[in-house]
Amino acid sequence: MKTINIGLIGFGTIGSGLVRALKENKNLLAERTGLRFVIRRICDKDISSPREVKVKRGILTRNSEDILSDPRIDIVVELIGGTRPALDYILRALQNKKPVVTANKSLLAEKGEIIFNTAYKNKVKIGFEASVAGGIPIIRSLREGFVANRIKGLYGIINGTTNYILSQMSEKKISFNQALREAKEKGYAEKNSKLDISGIDSAHKLAILARFAFNSICPWKRIYREGIEKITPLDIEYGEELGYCLKLLAIAKLKNGGLELRVHPALLPTSHPLSSIQGAYNGIYLTGDLIGETLFYGKGAGANPTASSVIADIVSIAEGKGEALNWMKAVKNRKINDIGELRTKYYFRFMALDKPGVLARIAASLGKHGISILSCIQKEREKKVVPVVMLTHWAKGSSVQAVLKEIDRLSVIKEKTVVIRVEESE
Ligand code: HSE
Repeated sequence: MKTINIGLIGFGTIGSGLVRALKENKNLLAERTGLRFVIRRICDKDISSPREVKVKRGILTRNSEDILSDPRIDIVVELIGGTRPALDYILRALQNKKPVVTANKSLLAEKGEIIFNTAYKNKVKIGFEASVAGGIPIIRSLREGFVANRIKGLYGIINGTTNYILSQMSEKKISFNQALREAKEKGYAEKNSKLDISGIDSAHKLAILARFAFNSICPWKRIYREGIEKITPLDIEYGEELGYCLKLLAIAKLKNGGLELRVHPALLPTSHPLSSIQGAYNGIYLTGDLIGETLFYGKGAGANPTASSVIADIVSIAEGKGEALNWMKAVKNRKINDIGELRTKYYFRFMALDKPGVLARIAASLGKHGISILSCIQKEREKKVVPVVMLTHWAKGSSVQAVLKEIDRLSVIKEKTVVIRVEESE
């Protein structure tokens, strides 16, 4: 049986998970592929702390060159995360004609072009299925299963931490901070949880997905982004009363010849398939000209789902498939649509004085800017300042910005108005 020798860089939780999964499912993999997968070397800064799996001491090294320059290594797996030194390792492996498998989402979002160009130039495969949505084979599906489709739209819940936070806020009526604390305790959040809650992690993953869904260069910094830091249980509750579920969505669409790329909290009709994605799970909803609608659901993080995708890439490469090189280069430089041009329905929560004429003043401003009210809720409260919740018909982003500037200056409005897009099909 042919042996595939793997050099693993990064022996943390994810790296150890890969070693364990390869050990535990060794026979199954051999049966299915006719190949034997062996971790020949492991490189890490720390080679003395105990790990959850036992490996022979002799295979551990602190020197990445023991992997990158070893002619016996067939595939390099990078699982250290971060930009540096991961970028140097990956480029060096590719230049040495060694195929690479990585789960490094932020690196691919930041430096994808140089990595893919180096892979293409050196005619070496690179697998990165685990970089987006953990164990869900979304990249392989875009590349292979849906290769014949023009993808129309991609909607993703691709950050488990924020989905967990929003689900907890909805279910237990707890505050954002309390839900964030729980997400951290459960180990869902990144070391720097700002990456999750500000939408950066979702934007990184969206840049990778959109590149392959639309064959376009998608600089992640040009993705419009809002986080969930300002979401309150009150808005989740009003949203639910109106028939919506609040999610942090990552959206990519081809629209008017350009690419619409955005990450922000959105109210989704409860009947939408993504509304059922709860807790730390991920979901991706795609529409294509041939497939129509399709939905992926699964774990977006953790050692086992990541190992599942990393091994799938290793097997693909070992079987001579892997990331088809033409995909690396087949990208266009499309226009990225301005968020001000985007038209959606909107949810507004005004904090207004409860006195005659207030609603009329808000409605007059909206009318002046061509924004039509769909529904309005104001509940009886014993306070002077009360929430007035409105849903609008389809409105242009730039008109909404302009009207809110005006409304928030009114003396009867006592707090900055909460604005959430409502995501419905046109
Ligand atoms: N912090 C990420 C998440 C981990 O919550 O989804 C997986 O990329």
